Amino acid sequence: MSQKVSGFSKLTKEAKIDWLVTHFLHQSKDAKKTLLTYWNNDNDLQQLHDEFSENTLTNFYLPFGIAPNFTINNKVYTIPMTIEESSVVAAASKAAKFWDKRGGFKTKVISTEKIGQVHFSFLGGFEKLSTFFNKIKPQLIDSIKSIQSSMKKRGGGLIDIELRDKTLEVNNYYQLHCTFETVDAMGANFINTCLEEFAQTFKVLAFNEESFTEAEKEVEIIMSILSNYVPNCIVRAEVSCPVADLPNTKQLSAKAYAEKFVRAVRIAEKEPYRAVTHNKGIMNGIDAVVIATGNDFRAIEAGAHAYAAKSGQYSSLTHATIENDIFNFYIEIPLAVGTIGGLTSLHPVVKLALEILGKPNAKELMEIIAVAGLAQNFGAVNSLITTGIQKGHMKMHLLNILNQHQATENEKKAIVTYFEKNTVTHSEVIHQLELLRN
Ligand code: MEV
Repeated sequence: MSQKVSGFSKLTKEAKIDWLVTHFLHQSKDAKKTLLTYWNNDNDLQQLHDEFSENTLTNFYLPFGIAPNFTINNKVYTIPMTIEESSVVAAASKAAKFWDKRGGFKTKVISTEKIGQVHFSFLGGFEKLSTFFNKIKPQLIDSIKSIQSSMKKRGGGLIDIELRDKTLEVNNYYQLHCTFETVDAMGANFINTCLEEFAQTFKVLAFNEESFTEAEKEVEIIMSILSNYVPNCIVRAEVSCPVADLPNTKQLSAKAYAEKFVRAVRIAEKEPYRAVTHNKGIMNGIDAVVIATGNDFRAIEAGAHAYAAKSGQYSSLTHATIENDIFNFYIEIPLAVGTIGGLTSLHPVVKLALEILGKPNAKELMEIIAVAGLAQNFGAVNSLITTGIQKGHMKMHLLNILNQHQATENEKKAIVTYFEKNTVTHSEVIHQLELLRN
């Protein structure tokens, strides 16, 4: 049976599911039922979600939870998180509580500049192009007058357009490197619309430029697109406390804990294999809030990892120091997020998430997200240098294992109680389940 199909997007949702079941899911006897189970009974709500994307068949659930007790700049926040990994919300909540007693998190937005580029080919030299660019720059800016009028009213808009010579990297390659302030919007649509207008205007003006040769007049626009690398859209979040206020156990004094923590972060700064995992843990917290607040987690991920490699070597996004017996732990990360536009006013749960956060503006949301990343990293490094990561992780994963083995509510209760005092391993959970069932 052919697995190719034409006109698929025009089929009804049910017909799409039937096609899928016939071609791919015939071995799963309840496939159609399962897909239909996730349809929402509220047709309007379902249609809203269907229209977010193309070829939508059903909904895909992710848990939406909250991590309370985050004190950020002396204000208390409850942070919504959308994530499937079992230990993330618990770790965030624990870190929030820990730092709440030690002055909470302090944050600062360092910069908010966004970037977009028009990439083009010009069959002439930089000097001639530069003279032309300087002459027409006011016309380029004027070309987006109506596009940016409402953004300007909100305090944003184009910051500057710069001509860059990239011919050493790629033959005849130049770019218009444009910077923007997009205030409370992530700004992707705004920036891309401006860039496409610049490209069009630039091409037409070049074609009519008398000082250009025929070849020079034929500017080829390769592409116009925002950059998700935003090294000038940076937020800093930090925690600090006297070393003596850090966890103090028989195995590890507070001083030894601080030193081990700093050393663990130092390893992530210097060793890329560790840095990637270290930053992955940070992104557990960051993505969860980014998704819950309707922002683009792929853009955030791409930008964060590029920033982590800005020195030429991939490194940690967090840093830790001990100075004058004060332990300091901080993150600096690019976060281009919005609290208006995109999904923020469309997705009903996103709207609630923003309300839970007190309807933050984009800068405040940057601060909250950075805190979630720092807290998550604190939780991970804390576990890694003390008990190891598996203890907490497996405890949270226990229910997943029980669900995989269709444990009943009574079985779950008994086994969760048993593992309050015993180490969770996959085989031990199965063993306990078998004991109960026999
Ligand atoms: C797991 O999702 C994240 C960690 O591996 C992060 C880390 O190692 O720092 C625990």
